[in-house]
Amino acid sequence: MPVAVASIALVLHLLSVAAAAVAMDPAERETLLLVMEAVSSDRDWRSVGPDPCGAPWPGLECKPVPGGGKVSATRLHVTRLDFGVAPNPTCKDAAAFPHLAFALPHLQSLFFVNCFKNPAATTAFTLPPSANLSSSRLQQLSVRSNPSLSGTLPPQLASLRSLQVLTVSQNALVRGEVPQGIGELKNLVHLDLSYNSLTGTIPSRIGELRSLAGLDLSYNSFSGSIPNKLGDLAMLQKLDLSSNNLTGGVPATITGLTSLTFLALSNNGLSGHLPAGLSDLRDLQYLIMENNPMGVPLLSELGDISRLQELRLANSGYSGSIPETLGRLVSLTTLSLENNHLTGRIPAGLSRLKRMYHLNLSKNGLDGVVPFDGAFLRRLGRNLDLSGNPGLCVDDRSVVQVDVGVGVCRRGDISSATAEGSAATLFRRDVLLRLTGGHWSARLIRPATVALCCLLL
Ligand SMILES: *[C@@H]1O[C@H](CO)[C@@H](O)[C@H](O)[C@H]1NC(C)=O
Ligand SMILES: *[C@@H]1O[C@H](CO)[C@@H](O)[C@H](O)[C@H]1NC(C)=O
Ligand SMILES: *[C@@H]1O[C@H](CO)[C@@H](O)[C@H](O)[C@H]1NC(C)=O
Repeated sequence: MPVAVASIALVLHLLSVAAAAVAMDPAERETLLLVMEAVSSDRDWRSVGPDPCGAPWPGLECKPVPGGGKVSATRLHVTRLDFGVAPNPTCKDAAAFPHLAFALPHLQSLFFVNCFKNPAATTAFTLPPSANLSSSRLQQLSVRSNPSLSGTLPPQLASLRSLQVLTVSQNALVRGEVPQGIGELKNLVHLDLSYNSLTGTIPSRIGELRSLAGLDLSYNSFSGSIPNKLGDLAMLQKLDLSSNNLTGGVPATITGLTSLTFLALSNNGLSGHLPAGLSDLRDLQYLIMENNPMGVPLLSELGDISRLQELRLANSGYSGSIPETLGRLVSLTTLSLENNHLTGRIPAGLSRLKRMYHLNLSKNGLDGVVPFDGAFLRRLGRNLDLSGNPGLCVDDRSVVQVDVGVGVCRRGDISSATAEGSAATLFRRDVLLRLTGGHWSARLIRPATVALCCLLL
């Protein structure tokens, strides 16, 4: 069919829909008005008009629902309700969580964002009985930034079988455990339960949600270990379990998450070795795992996670040396290893990483000469921190331009170079700056300055 004919047909179809539109189902209309009255005081909803779907207001979306027979095919149904943030209806001070909304038979999306926020009027997160939800068509439920919403995650959530996106986030009063029934929501693509007060263990059954692409449980109080079953989530791209009370090791099954691009496990009680096979995570770009009592050497296999852009493993009791292999991570922009017990030299390979712009190796036991050239040091500038490694020193080329937090190497005694801020360091830098005058080539003056510097000391 030629395009023109197709578009004429489409226009005619739309016209016929409009012409044949019949008023809303009266029961559905009544439910909608009760929901609006429970939540919003924007206006007198009953006076807005006889047929809300016929002249929809902000925050309300209606659609004809196909497949309902000839007559009902042209009837408009409530498919989306959106509360909280302008231009959507704002919520009244005494807003109550309207579980009646779940009785709207064709509702696909329901949002409460910044809606329940009156500290003097907490309202419980409740759902109708499971039997009432069995025919729910809800695909997206978002309950976000509601400081006065309280209660637990209702077990009836498990009955919302059409859900693809479930967000219950930033509701500090929502506590308790995640219902095991969450494993029934086989269509879920995104599950975000971050920034609540959830406790208990992470249910293994989340591993049954095989379509999941995003899982965020960060900033709760989950305890226990990371379930092995999470490794079954082969579609998962983002996994964030940061800022909980998780303990034990990182399970080896995590290497089965072959679609992962973002993995965050910071601020937990995780310990021990990262599993072998991490380099199976071929698409991993962010590995963010700070503040855990790992207490082991760094795996050299980290250097084989070839797409890594950010590697953040600070404050985690890592010992031993920095693996040379990290110099293979050509996409690396950020490397944070500060506040560990790392010893030995800084691998020279790091200086060849052209995308690097943030490198923090402060507060370790590293020693030797810093292997970075002037171009590298200038590129990183203030984003390079080597302070708090008493055994590290830089040669003269670098200090002329930037302060990297370490002293200048003394001839024959590099290990005695002092940390940033000491009087000796400042003195030597001052000498160097005056000697070089800021315009001679660093390379030319190098032997002379080193010699003069150390004589003066
Ligand atoms: C649940 O369904 C029953 C039967 O249809 C109905 O009477 C009741 O009002 C519903 N309850 C809720 C909370 O929607
Ligand atoms: C973790 O557990 C400890 C002790 O059980 C508790 O004091 C702390 O608040 C918990 N942290 C989080 C983030 O829940
Ligand atoms: C490096 O980490 C330390 C924490 O140990 C922090 O105080 C400092 O600001 C960081 N430096 C840079 C450049 O990020």
